[in-house]
Amino acid sequence: MKTKMVKRWAAVVLVAVVAAGFGCAPKKTEPVKVSEIADGEVEPAQWGKVYPEEYELWKKTGEPTPHGLSKYKKGNDRGERLDKLDEFPFLALLYNGWAMGAEYTEPRGHLHMIEDQLAIDPGRYKAGGTCLTCKTPYAPALQQRLGKTYFANPYQEVRAQIPKDHQTLGVSCIDCHNNKDMSLRISRGFTLGKALERIGKDESKLTQQDMRSLVCAQCHVTYSITKDANMKSTGVFFPWQGSSWGHITIENIIKELRNNPPSGEWTQSVTGFKMAFIRHPEFELFSNNSVHWQAGVACSDCHMPYIKVGTHKVSDHRIMSPLKNGLKACQQCHAESPEWLRNQIFTIQDRTMSQFIRAGYATATAAKLFEMANKAEAAGRQIDKNLYAEAKDHYEEAFYRVVFIGAENSTGFHNPTEALRILGDAASHAGKAEALLRQALTKAGMNVPAKIDLELAKYVNNRGAKKLMFKPENEIKDPLAGH
Ligand code: HEC
Ligand code: HEC
Ligand code: HEC
Ligand code: HEC
Repeated sequence: MKTKMVKRWAAVVLVAVVAAGFGCAPKKTEPVKVSEIADGEVEPAQWGKVYPEEYELWKKTGEPTPHGLSKYKKGNDRGERLDKLDEFPFLALLYNGWAMGAEYTEPRGHLHMIEDQLAIDPGRYKAGGTCLTCKTPYAPALQQRLGKTYFANPYQEVRAQIPKDHQTLGVSCIDCHNNKDMSLRISRGFTLGKALERIGKDESKLTQQDMRSLVCAQCHVTYSITKDANMKSTGVFFPWQGSSWGHITIENIIKELRNNPPSGEWTQSVTGFKMAFIRHPEFELFSNNSVHWQAGVACSDCHMPYIKVGTHKVSDHRIMSPLKNGLKACQQCHAESPEWLRNQIFTIQDRTMSQFIRAGYATATAAKLFEMANKAEAAGRQIDKNLYAEAKDHYEEAFYRVVFIGAENSTGFHNPTEALRILGDAASHAGKAEALLRQALTKAGMNVPAKIDLELAKYVNNRGAKKLMFKPENEIKDPLAGH
């Protein structure tokens, strides 16, 4: 296994070297000199005095990204936030019942993270100080100082404890680096550290390549918020129980969420079911045996490629979609042209998207049948309990798979085969739920139409105060209509 990996690597690198060999001789680059930063220094500008190249690039995550280069991640191109619920109306139906169903936007650059959190529906940070965990470099210190109240107290109250100048400061040098020697560090011991322990990964044995992914896995992972009897947040945990390094599976995540549901995270309005949720699982999808993971590639290889600034070779701290900077990252290893690479990405993403939409509508259809069954029962009809329970089981399996791929930000690229497998299972579970519900409803004497009206306009438009995004019914398209 090892030798095969090394051989493949050697081949890829060789191609790259040969391809580059005929260009003009590159100017000699020097590595960046390392010096110490004062203990406890959070201010990136201070770090920037020693490392101006990285600092300037980091600041650029606040600029809109180049337009027209990405197919599915256009949100940041004009500095706007694209609305996922508008893009995928079935998500507006499925997430109706809490703040995620009111507002759910595509991500933007790192510099905006707190500002964007402040701009969203306040329901989204109802969980309290907990919501700062992936947003402020002060999270670890606040958690240590405030203990339980860090998680439980209102978001704005905890945010007020951050020094004034830094109350809108997002991910910073100190989140990923040791101030003494610039080595990479895990600053979120209270979340990622514990999760690694749970899957039996020894933190003292992490390689540099592991770290080049794990600094990102501090935030680009799914998490649940634990609550006490009074519904106050008590902590953040990653549902990785039963999984292992390189094999954190959707099956185990769902098992964990269904066996130990984070108490009453939200109630889905269409079905009335209490549900958990899955967020941005980039690390989980990517590290689950993707081709690139198996080849030893890390997040930073694709999102922070080496570039030359002056005479220095630096890691590109303007973290963004590789499509938006000419696929420089890929060309460190692949000799193919940017056009070929772009086509590979788009093909993978188109396939994923088509399956995502199918699975999403199938799940939404099952949700509407539950609504019908619930109403029928409320009106005094007998709905077969076993059929209903079995349908619910399949429905939840479908739902979490749809959420997982919908929340994962690469539209399948990070692990194409796994993404398609997950969506295939989602569609199949949703189909089973639908069949069982049709059976139960028919048995109860109901007449179930062949085509279920999803009433999408109701969900897309009925979203509290966010009226600006509302669309008239005839503008809401069902991409599967007519198929
Ligand atoms: C402290 C938490 C945190 C860490 C650490 C972190 N991210 Fe992010 N990342 C976020 C958040 C939050 C957003 C969304 C920000 C917004 O929409 O305002 C984001 C957005 C992004 C985006 C989208 C940028 C765009 O232009 O739309 C990319 C790409 C990304 N992160 C990659 C990475 C990579 C790669 C790493 C590791 C080298 C990393 N992130 C580390 C929290 C983090
Ligand atoms: C082999 C290259 C590669 C690796 C490794 C990789 N990514 Fe990506 N990533 C991509 C591509 C390609 C996209 C799709 C970008 C697009 O559609 O514009 C993407 C998309 C993203 C996005 C959304 C970007 C946006 O503009 O909104 C985030 C966030 C992200 N990746 C984070 C990560 C994290 C975290 C890891 C490691 C766990 C990782 N990536 C590993 C290539 C990679
Ligand atoms: C999201 C995580 C993250 C953040 C935030 C971050 N870095 Fe880095 N940085 C990295 C990674 C990953 C590398 C590559 C490390 C390696 O493999 O050697 C790196 C490398 C470096 C290096 C070594 C030289 C180079 O460019 O490869 C310096 C210096 C550096 N960063 C400075 C900074 C400064 C200054 C800031 C804040 C303005 C900062 N970094 C913010 C992840 C981060
Ligand atoms: C650090 C090196 C490295 C980087 C960076 C990298 N790749 Fe790869 N890539 C590999 C290796 C190694 C393989 C596996 C080759 C094999 O198995 O034959 C691979 C495989 C692939 C494959 C085939 C996948 C499959 O499922 O068989 C595609 C497509 C691909 N890469 C595209 C990209 C794109 C697009 C980027 C940039 C966003 C990228 N790669 C970045 C090293 C890299």
